Amino acid sequence: MHQPAQRELRLAARMARLGTETAFEVLVKARALEAKGRDIVHLEIGEPDFDTPRNIIDAGCDALHKGFTHYGPSAGLPQLREAIAQYVSETRRVDVSPDEVVVVPGGKPIIFFSILALSEQGDEVIYPNPGFPIYESMINYVGAKVVPIRLREEMDFRLDVDELAGLINDRTKLIIINSPQNPTGGVLTKTDIERIAKAIGDRNIMMLSDEIYSRLIFEGEHHSIMSLDGMKERTILLDGFSKTYAMTGWRMGYGVMRADFAAHIVRLMTNSSSCTASFTQIAGVEALRGPQDSVDQMCAEFKKRRDVMVAGLNKIKGFSCRLPKGAFYVFPNITKTGWKSKKLADALLDDAGVAGLSGTAFGDFGEGYLRFSVANSIENIEKALERVDSWTKKNL
Ligand SMILES: Cc1ncc(COP(=O)(O)O)c(C=O)c1O
Repeated sequence: MHQPAQRELRLAARMARLGTETAFEVLVKARALEAKGRDIVHLEIGEPDFDTPRNIIDAGCDALHKGFTHYGPSAGLPQLREAIAQYVSETRRVDVSPDEVVVVPGGKPIIFFSILALSEQGDEVIYPNPGFPIYESMINYVGAKVVPIRLREEMDFRLDVDELAGLINDRTKLIIINSPQNPTGGVLTKTDIERIAKAIGDRNIMMLSDEIYSRLIFEGEHHSIMSLDGMKERTILLDGFSKTYAMTGWRMGYGVMRADFAAHIVRLMTNSSSCTASFTQIAGVEALRGPQDSVDQMCAEFKKRRDVMVAGLNKIKGFSCRLPKGAFYVFPNITKTGWKSKKLADALLDDAGVAGLSGTAFGDFGEGYLRFSVANSIENIEKALERVDSWTKKNL
């Protein structure tokens, strides 16, 4: 029988501008190699390898049995918004009320919704590069102009505030910062934050401060731009449960922002997911209000692994690696290998069985670097280091 040709897929033009997160693609490739019998060390994906703490799991199960299986308010359950307002007030030393909190399925929707609600063609959005790829993807998607601010290795992957000041103009609508940072582990200092606020001055520019790694900090303290005088009104603070409480699969995060803007983000929630899963939110109340020792233990473990990883990488030919101050990634400079980042990441996966990401997965300024996650055991990290070392001895 005659088969009609498949009809053309007539996508909206904007879909050509939407990017992706390479980590998920590398994971698929690594799993395909494993299915063929290869042994792969996974250092590509950005999620804690720990289980969600028991008290949080119990609270989630209990909530299911108690009937938290229905729709809830788009902004989040009142008890969770209350707990988040209290938590953010304490940790950021700023008064936050529940109507300034929007609970969403993961940290990502706050990025998606904020960029969607604030920027359009003719607007400029400044964002870190190398940085979390979703920022650039979303700015392009909504048709605004991407204005990357380079993170500088010689500054431990912080941004140069004078350079940032030079990028701000009348079209700047939104500035995104991320500390502790993915993919570099860079952490902005109190002085950096104060100087950024000063560079913005009185301008009516919104800040999206992605603080999803705020509890994973190895040296010094976390500083939020929301805490500074005059900045609360202009800051959207993004935080969540995925990294802090090893809850990536529960899908829960939140934004804290002025109440009139929160109402618009809530409308985007109503139009997309309706609400975050209700039982997940009850588990979130337990996460914030229950014992916090698991967070501290996880952070201490990441620090140990970071030390092993960085010391090991610095012994490998062509690699040099700074000590990240937060998050759970290392970002070695590989320019002295003479290889391009993507080619090297591919070769290490194909030939050495080590899955990491090319720095270019995080933007053009990621060329010359790789990202490895340390969300894996010390034993596996040592195995990966040995494999990369012997690969370089054979190939460089
Ligand atoms: C900087 C940054 N922001 C946001 C997110 C999103 O987190 P979630 O899984 O909660 O959506 C991630 C996850 O990798 C991240 O690295």
